Amino acid sequence: MKITFVNVGYGEGIVISYQDKIIVIDTGSNLLEEYEGYAARISIDKYLKNNNISKIDALVLTHLHEDHICRGAKLIDDYEISQIYTNIDYSAIDLSKEIIPNDTDEKYTRLFAYSTNAYRHIILKALENNIPIHKLYYEKDKQIMIAGVLKADVLGPNLDVTYEFEKNLKLLYKATTREDITKYSYILDKSANATPIMLRLHFGDKKVLLTSDLVPNNLKYLPDDIDISSDILKLAHHGQIDGIEENFLKKVSANMYITCSSSNRINNSSHKDVYKNIRQMFSDSKFYFTDEISYDDYFKVENKFSALNFHFTHSGIEVSFDFI
Ligand SMILES: [Fe+2]
Repeated sequence: MKITFVNVGYGEGIVISYQDKIIVIDTGSNLLEEYEGYAARISIDKYLKNNNISKIDALVLTHLHEDHICRGAKLIDDYEISQIYTNIDYSAIDLSKEIIPNDTDEKYTRLFAYSTNAYRHIILKALENNIPIHKLYYEKDKQIMIAGVLKADVLGPNLDVTYEFEKNLKLLYKATTREDITKYSYILDKSANATPIMLRLHFGDKKVLLTSDLVPNNLKYLPDDIDISSDILKLAHHGQIDGIEENFLKKVSANMYITCSSSNRINNSSHKDVYKNIRQMFSDSKFYFTDEISYDDYFKVENKFSALNFHFTHSGIEVSFDFI
């Protein structure tokens, strides 16, 4: 049993090997600039190829942001995929057309068009190949078995929030003017981080909380007494400051904290106060980063690496790196 956080630069790409199944949770970015010139970064498809993986038993697309799903278009072309989990009802997408981004829009508004087009491509291929597509959302005590083997509590997204998102997505596809395309792409980009799939995975008696970009402020729908305690917390939103909140951290009370982010720390990711605050609350906490070889007093590793692995063994959790 192993969970791997691939060094995809700014973004998330997670590969789980559980019994004989392979589960991929998000795919990282498809932007060349994310990989070029960074020796240790690797696209998720290249990681899978290097590890002789050709079949994916379940692909989870947490939300429609470029850094999470765009490389998925390559995966669906080149890999055999058995099932797909998504955070929205794909019928909100008009599968007959692509969204043409406006050159003059700000970067993330433009990238939202890329992510809808990648998502559309994935859905079209999945329908063509009869790959089942499931929408995931929070319901009280909802547990699923991903790929039939991996137990997961579904903690997000909130269904009402996804309805609102789907409504705006339909308006984007109906938009006929450049102004409306910009307007709805902007709204959707800004609201997408309230919609990710959040999973608490059970590796035997060890638990791993994968928040995607669902920050604590967007988790108010969860009941106060919910058990989200976990051994490993993948910090929300690439270690930006909105990814932590005292009550949430207390409830999770993890020992190991992972940040999927880029070493150039764009968007104030891997924010220093995040680690300072966690260390103040939990003095023995351990920190891991997907694209750093050292981070202040919190993390140090001898060489650049392309993947960060957590192995679940009888004696506990062992960490290893795929060095380059
Ligand atoms: Fe993200």
